[in-house]
Amino acid sequence: ATILLLNGPNLNLLGKREPGHYGSLSLPQIESNLTALATERGQTLLCYQNNTEGALVDRIHLAMDEGVEFIIINPGAYTHTSIALRDALLGVAIPFIEIHLSNVHRRESFRHHSYLSDIAEGVILGLGAVGYELALYAAIQKTSTNMT
Ligand code: DQA
Repeated sequence: ATILLLNGPNLNLLGKREPGHYGSLSLPQIESNLTALATERGQTLLCYQNNTEGALVDRIHLAMDEGVEFIIINPGAYTHTSIALRDALLGVAIPFIEIHLSNVHRRESFRHHSYLSDIAEGVILGLGAVGYELALYAAIQKTSTNMT
């Protein structure tokens, strides 16, 4: 299957940014680890990061044309603000997992609400970079079940 990994604003700073919350791995390291795992299992992983909302919306639209079967998304702060991302994901009707490196429920109350969680297949949070791997395994499992 083709799986799309989307990362939103400020996630390009991973490794440097608030390591207590977000860990020491950079985004390129996370992306290359995940790409290797996907390739080992015969899957295609596309990776995209952008700091602006519209670019993420456009990337989600493109995923529909590309035949992407599953999306893994860390929407960053847009999690807590973006009806546009919610509508884009509903619009393309591609199943997705929402992921956060930090445990947002242990943090400021404005991080406790997500515009995506109620329409996600699942949500993984608080497990750092390992959460991305868990999301990939789940995505592979879900897309291969769909094919049978
Ligand atoms: C985050 C949590 C968000 O609240 C925050 O705005 C981020 C990263 C996470 O991965 O823990 O940018 O999505």
